Amino acid sequence: MSNEKPFVSAHATDAPVTPAFVVDEESLARQAESFTAAMAAVWPTGIVSYSVKTNSLPWIVSWMAKRGIWAEVVSDHEYRLALALGHSPDKIVFNGPAKSRETMLAALSTGAIVNIDSRRELRWVLEYAKNPPSGSVKVGVRVNWDVDAECPGDTASGAAGLRFGFDVSSGDLAGVLDSLKEHGVSVAALHLHVTSLSRAIGTYQSAARVAASIVEQHRLSLDYLDIGGGFYGGENPAFPSPEEYLVAIRDGLDGAIDPATTRLVIEPGSALVAVAVEFHTSVLDSKPAGDHVIVVTDGSRTNIDPFFRKESYEYSIRTTGRPALARQVICGFTCLDNDRLMTLEEAPELSEGDTITYKKVGSYTMCFNPLFINQLPTVYVRHCDGTLGIARHAWGEKEYLAANDWNA
Ligand SMILES: Cc1ncc(COP(=O)(O)O)c(C=O)c1O
Repeated sequence: MSNEKPFVSAHATDAPVTPAFVVDEESLARQAESFTAAMAAVWPTGIVSYSVKTNSLPWIVSWMAKRGIWAEVVSDHEYRLALALGHSPDKIVFNGPAKSRETMLAALSTGAIVNIDSRRELRWVLEYAKNPPSGSVKVGVRVNWDVDAECPGDTASGAAGLRFGFDVSSGDLAGVLDSLKEHGVSVAALHLHVTSLSRAIGTYQSAARVAASIVEQHRLSLDYLDIGGGFYGGENPAFPSPEEYLVAIRDGLDGAIDPATTRLVIEPGSALVAVAVEFHTSVLDSKPAGDHVIVVTDGSRTNIDPFFRKESYEYSIRTTGRPALARQVICGFTCLDNDRLMTLEEAPELSEGDTITYKKVGSYTMCFNPLFINQLPTVYVRHCDGTLGIARHAWGEKEYLAANDWNA
């Protein structure tokens, strides 16, 4: 729960119609600025590239482009989305294990940083390099290294090892780099990303050390060193600041890479959007059940905890209710029995029309929302002057039926 007093004893007059996500533009700008400013200070040629998958709301993807933040995409769809929303083709980082040949080569030929991640992508690049439409061919290569050996417990993959990239320890990466060189393809980038559990600095130091040793061993001259995402973004001093991450990366390279000639790329997702998004819900009903009260709301756990893993949220409540005597179990609108978001103890008694707002729910939530029972909720933007705009209208039957032919 936040330090902020979670209970406000009045009904809002300017509140969004629930259920709805609200993107707070000021908070988004603060997060973006914390990374762009740190980059400018530590690695002046560096690039901040927003991880589109984290929250692909068109308003957010477009907002990033308008602020000079690049797009990191991992599918043909995301690549086309970024272009459609104003990202220039030479300011896109294209990762992901399942690119199509056509889109990957289109991205390559129009200046994107393309980081290859599979044997088929390697084959396509080598074929393309036989007869490139113009000049030299440059690609990035994704690296799979034993990060868990150096940073046990810090990554989601743990001892099972990373899933992405070409393996350093077996010599597979060396084979890929040699093969590219033999075919006249320049290795312009190395990409080292881990799914961080702890958001600790150690995985970045490990990535930097590994990158430095690959660069030295293979005498690479990189245009880009892409260190991926996984950063913490918020105000908790127990976590590293953007600047501390970047300094750790720079120092970990120990002079093997020159910031004047190689641009550092980072791909923050959660760190940019998590704190900027709220989910507003209203109470539909409450009724006693045994020793507790079931409170049904118009938002669902599927909206903000798609993996059903969270145990607590930062939230605030608007109610005029008196202190409740019983535990209140906050439930969602779906028919899933486990669509229960949280249990409130010693909170005001909730009744129809009261609201619950969940905070910091911007990453890997909105883009995982299912079309289950109800369609996608409205998304508002709270602009810096406090006004609300609608960034996405709620989906209903019209949107659902638009892609269907029930006479097929
Ligand atoms: C390649 C890559 N870059 C960046 C990110 C963003 O990570 P985060 O949201 O932890 O910053 C991800 C997330 O899965 C990723 O796979």
